[in-house]
Amino acid sequence: MHVTFRQLAIFNAVAEKLSFTEAANTLHLTQPAVSVQIKRLEDSVGLPLFEQLGKRIYLTGAGEELLHYSRNIFHELDEAGEMFAQMQDISRGTLNVSVATTASSFATRMISAFLKQYPAATVRLDVTNRGTLIRQLENNEKDIVIMGKPPETMDLVGEAFMDNPLVVIASPDHPLAGQMAIGIQTLQREPFVVREPASGTRAALEKLFSRCQISPAIQVEIADTEAIKEAVAAGLGLSVVSRHTLELDLQAGRLVILDVEHFPIARHWYLAYRRGKRLSPIALAFKALVFEQAPTMAAALSP
Ligand code: PGA
Repeated sequence: MHVTFRQLAIFNAVAEKLSFTEAANTLHLTQPAVSVQIKRLEDSVGLPLFEQLGKRIYLTGAGEELLHYSRNIFHELDEAGEMFAQMQDISRGTLNVSVATTASSFATRMISAFLKQYPAATVRLDVTNRGTLIRQLENNEKDIVIMGKPPETMDLVGEAFMDNPLVVIASPDHPLAGQMAIGIQTLQREPFVVREPASGTRAALEKLFSRCQISPAIQVEIADTEAIKEAVAAGLGLSVVSRHTLELDLQAGRLVILDVEHFPIARHWYLAYRRGKRLSPIALAFKALVFEQAPTMAAALSP
């Protein structure tokens, strides 16, 4: 069936007024122009849509059916229009952002600053490890991702916005606490509490250990930085975490940073998305805020 939106709009007007003349007036068309379009529509449908009894016209059964469908079609179009208007409107838009577990410590603060600017916006935040972030990027599931260095094997835009130093932590009563210039080989005999294998922090740690040819025993593996810090504070072993997650623990004297050779491991935080992706207005606004906030955030996290 070949039907145009214009024919449907004309049909709706005639069906609502039950008059070709009134429909023509409303649409600023001539009455013959309206009749021609209705005739073409009837040819496409293969059935008459109106019938004339005396001076009045009525919808036929086919006309009633078509009116039902065409009202729905225009209703859906209006809805689509409203949705696109909302997507343009940052203040009421939805941001889908996914961040590395480690980045959640500062990403939530950035989101809170963003929502102060756009109080009616909605943020859907996913906190997960590097492995899952890469899969989400592959599937184009998120507007924007905050992660450690994006994989070079994928066609991504990755823009570094803040440093991410990884440090060795211990409980304050650990024998190495307070020692200066600890050789990395010393770590060989220390049990470690580490992140899960898909974590970027874990990958960076393993890379350094393998370069230095050490393989300390893994005492516990935990997929959560807060729980790792608890375990280290409880004396379960040493760990390597982002310096940016330690602000309160250092202040409270719950943990200490060890002065170990080759540390901190210098990593960076990146905003990443698929190359060619057209960022929505709300994603662009969030990206701008991340770059604007990064210097003060870095200073606050690692004073
Ligand atoms: P992670 O990510 O939380 O998965 O360790 C940090 C990173 O990619 O460096």
